[in-house]
Amino acid sequence: MHSDIKEILISKQQIEDKAIELGNILSEAYSGKQPILLGLLKGSVMFMGDLMKSIEVPAQIEFMDVSSYHGATSSGQVKILKDLDVSVEGRHVLIVEDIVDTGFTLSKVIELLKHRGASSVEVVTLLDKPEGRVVEMKAKYVGFTIPKAFVVGYGLDYNEFYRTLPYVGILKEQVYTK
Ligand code: IMP
Repeated sequence: MHSDIKEILISKQQIEDKAIELGNILSEAYSGKQPILLGLLKGSVMFMGDLMKSIEVPAQIEFMDVSSYHGATSSGQVKILKDLDVSVEGRHVLIVEDIVDTGFTLSKVIELLKHRGASSVEVVTLLDKPEGRVVEMKAKYVGFTIPKAFVVGYGLDYNEFYRTLPYVGILKEQVYTK
């Protein structure tokens, strides 16, 4: 275990097993369809890698990079750093996310995709932190529901590091206060 990690919350094996389980559920849910799996960069990359191997319907893989910032208004804004270069009009879009916290980023991306004419927009997230929710946002497919702790690993970062850890762990508090 990395010396900055206090505790491993979810192991590599647990995540891999969950990706297979979700892949089976999604293969059934999207049977007969050709969904777009839309990963939100960079946190979703490792989860996308596992999930896409278990999805047995013909799926297109795309990525978007958005950053959310909460300004003076409670509604906040989402900035698109890298947009999609394909049309979502008439398509079934499944957003692949690492974690849902306030729900703010996803609610804005969903709104945008619907505005662009997607037939359906659903979310599969590796982690859900429901206690952090500020705006109403319910992911249809959830890997693990976790408590309100700051986690890293398996794609999730703190200041761009720890994404490469093959598990989800809680970061030691002294790392933030350094
Ligand atoms: P939301 O808009 O607050 O739901 O933000 C979701 C995004 O915040 C995720 O895609 C992550 O990039 C980041 N985030 C939220 N909680 C954590 C965490 O515990 N560790 C690392 N990143 C997090």
